[in-house]
Amino acid sequence: MDKKTIYLDQDADIEARVEDLLNRLTLEEKILLIRGRDFWTTNPIKRLKVPSFGMTDGPLGVAYHSSHKGKRTRFPATIGLASTWNKDLAFKMGEAMGKEMKLSGRHQILGPGVNIIRSPLCGRNFEYLSEDPVLSSDIGAEVIKGIQSQKIASCMKHYITNNSETKRMKISTEISERALHEIYVKNYKRIIEKADPWGLMVCYNKINGIHGAENKYILRDILRDQLGFTGHVVTDWGAARGTSGAAGCIKAGLNLEMPGFFISRVMTPKKVKKALDDGDINEGDLNYIVRPLLRTFMRVRLFEETEQPIKKVLDIPEHQQIAKQIAEEGMVLLKNDSNFLPIKLDEVKKIAILGPNANKIFGKPLRGGSSAVVPPKEITPYEGIANYVSGKVEMVSNPEDADIVFLFVGLNHGGHLLSMFLSKKEGDTEGRDRTHYALPDEQQQLIRETLVRNPNTVIILIAGSPIDCSNWFENVPAILNAWYPGMLGGDAIARVLFGEVNPSGKLPVTYPKKLEDHPAHESKKRFPGDLKELKIYFDEGIYVGYRYFDKHQIEPFFPFGFGLSYSSFEMSNIQLDKTNLQGKGNFTVSVDVKNIGDKLGAEVIQIYVSDDECSVDRPPKELQGFEKVHLKPGEKKSVSITLNESAFEFYSEKEHEFKAETGTFTIWGGSSSRELPLSIKINYTA
Ligand code: BGC
Repeated sequence: MDKKTIYLDQDADIEARVEDLLNRLTLEEKILLIRGRDFWTTNPIKRLKVPSFGMTDGPLGVAYHSSHKGKRTRFPATIGLASTWNKDLAFKMGEAMGKEMKLSGRHQILGPGVNIIRSPLCGRNFEYLSEDPVLSSDIGAEVIKGIQSQKIASCMKHYITNNSETKRMKISTEISERALHEIYVKNYKRIIEKADPWGLMVCYNKINGIHGAENKYILRDILRDQLGFTGHVVTDWGAARGTSGAAGCIKAGLNLEMPGFFISRVMTPKKVKKALDDGDINEGDLNYIVRPLLRTFMRVRLFEETEQPIKKVLDIPEHQQIAKQIAEEGMVLLKNDSNFLPIKLDEVKKIAILGPNANKIFGKPLRGGSSAVVPPKEITPYEGIANYVSGKVEMVSNPEDADIVFLFVGLNHGGHLLSMFLSKKEGDTEGRDRTHYALPDEQQQLIRETLVRNPNTVIILIAGSPIDCSNWFENVPAILNAWYPGMLGGDAIARVLFGEVNPSGKLPVTYPKKLEDHPAHESKKRFPGDLKELKIYFDEGIYVGYRYFDKHQIEPFFPFGFGLSYSSFEMSNIQLDKTNLQGKGNFTVSVDVKNIGDKLGAEVIQIYVSDDECSVDRPPKELQGFEKVHLKPGEKKSVSITLNESAFEFYSEKEHEFKAETGTFTIWGGSSSRELPLSIKINYTA
């Protein structure tokens, strides 16, 4: 092989390189490529100098267990990233993870997690983004662009409808064609359009009776043919099932079975060869699935690799600052009676920092499951506040001795993944869903007791999922939801509590007043599913999250998009650059926003669209765009958000595609799904 060998030539066209390499591979070599060598890598093809391709877990950073036990930047839980509604930050997080991947000797990060948050109880909500496909895809796409800017492959997961953990390997999602497309596929569709992702992980569960990894409708018809996905599909670990065998998975369009151990034995060389010999598949089928894998190899520059020593500890201040900023911008101020927060340092003498999550370290190996990132250091809330007030305020441990109590409650990631399976502990963790929406009894009691001892108690939630606040909401002056704030979370919390940072996070999910109000919890059939039949019924259809609360006029506890600030903002003057749109095209909505408070702050302009009249039932309104703006006191900005005809579309089961009907649409502007003071009409002609 000389330097002119096309597939080795970095300057040649990628598709030409892929075809060249594909033509050189023997049948046996192709078969070797489609199943892992071990837990995290593929088989190298030494004859052709094809190195082994390596993966590691995400999505909260570069995970410890899969990156040679490396300590890496631990970012906040990604539900907190979505709460920032800040696309630039999402890109920066992806970019930082991409850089750390390069230093970890791997080529693909198994993230972002983009499953729609369908229920407040899913154990992996902390790894996902939102209940809404527009928010989820806009944030997810930026993370992916950031990762891929470093020539590292992303891997959005877990495609598709893996929205709960109970019996995730066996359960079948029972879902209508419209709901599947309009909510769940739409999330991926938008990401693919915006970011051209290089990888995707297919789920464990079945979709209408067929496992994801062997589901041709899901993997080929939708993903490749309709959405135009150009990357490769890897199984979730062990998600290829024997049901339809190697031929079934290959024909469905699965590109890579992982890992290469005994738990995944569907596309073994022996079984693939047999399928070829039996005529169930042919070399063309094999080429179809090898091609995207080779494309990823080219995209990550696998052939340019030079052996680099892998650093055990990455202590990168620049990345840690990004993690801190996400924590700060993602925190959601849920209640703030009479401007109780921020606390003025010169007005307090003694503070108490209490509660089970005040000093807990979350970044430990496999805690919470495969997303566990172990950072070089982790500043707990206790440490962060203690450092912040050091020398100025006395720390006390009795609530009655303090001027202010900061009480840290919430959930946790439980124990080590393996012990979790044995102990059946619930929390924010992979492999298990919560069974209760409320905080554990002992924490509720702690809140009650602390309030009796000191009514000046601020509740800070450290959790990755919505929590029922109704039992104690009335009695507390302020509630701050900090999610899992990552490795510098303690510093970020201190800066918010003492007013150095003005909270600007907005909820990416609805908090119901009670669980039964939530669309996923109208019956057990819907969640966790009928566990005898092994079916989970997505009977709410397209009415996921706020769409359902709006449709049935149910008052949520905290609505989607809600979050307070230490400042106040006024929105006015909604305008369109055109009042008629025909066919495909863009239009721009602009809104003026003014900071009418006395503190620097940020507001998220949220644009929702309703179809004034339609031949099918539609949600009263749907988020279609958003933008975050930072404003000085008194400052006013005009914010423009560009949308296109997809803002009017729904999925037609008759035509099996997205369509928008001719008619008028109302464009709403405001600061949450339930605070939309501005509106304007647009005419659309299909
Ligand atoms: C998880 C995936 C993860 C994979 C590899 C699976 O159990 O569902 O999210 O990437 O393991 O650790």
